[in-house]
Amino acid sequence: MAQETVRIQPFIRRLWKSDQPKLVDHFQRLDEKTRRLRFGGTVSEGFVREYAEQILSNAAVNFGSFPDNELRGVAELRGLLDSWPRSAEVALLVEPEWQDAGIGEALLNRLVAAAQNRGIKTLHMLCLRENLSMRNLAKKHHATLEVDIGNVEATLAPPWPTPLSMFEEMFGDTRSYLDTFFHQPK
Ligand SMILES: CC(C)(COP(=O)(O)OP(=O)(O)OC[C@H]1O[C@@H](n2cnc3c(N)ncnc32)[C@H](O)[C@@H]1OP(=O)(O)O)[C@@H](O)C(=O)NCCC(=O)NCCS
Repeated sequence: MAQETVRIQPFIRRLWKSDQPKLVDHFQRLDEKTRRLRFGGTVSEGFVREYAEQILSNAAVNFGSFPDNELRGVAELRGLLDSWPRSAEVALLVEPEWQDAGIGEALLNRLVAAAQNRGIKTLHMLCLRENLSMRNLAKKHHATLEVDIGNVEATLAPPWPTPLSMFEEMFGDTRSYLDTFFHQPK
């Protein structure tokens, strides 16, 4: 029998202080593999909780994806704003049941636009070498990949701000969901 495919919209918006409880719940729903990929190694429940509790207190720009009204994906842009030329670090996370549905790509597009609009000239993404999904996303943004024994560092260079990048940051790229088909989460 043919598998049913469902079209989703990632519904991405900025995260604010009032989203704090949703963030903690989101991080608690992660399985061991996703946690390991996100943090680059095995981490405890306590570490994950503490991390989730402080995300919004940092000088960072955070976006969340709400495809079913719940927070299912988070993108963090942490500034290394004292550096010149300005650079920042990117971290992405999508809950296991919602992966491979285009949410990660839509979140990354939004972060790249946010970086572009802030004049950030270099974006760094660090992931485990085995993380093919993340490496694939980085390649789509023409990132330079530096591979060592266990990790890959991807470096992206956002162009100067444009009216389109302002639009992208505020509203997202409709193509990122119009073209996305996926199998409904179990
Ligand atoms: C990395 C991550 C954010 C990607 O999010 P996602 O929503 O699954 O990503 P998308 O569905 O937008 O796109 C993933 C792309 O990788 C591809 N991909 C997925 N698994 C893959 C694999 N094993 N090998 C190669 N490509 C793979 C998908 O096919 C897709 O590319 P396509 O659109 O050309 O088909 C998500 O997998 C995740 O949260 N992983 C755990 C945390 C993590 O690794 N974070 C990164 C370090 S900070």
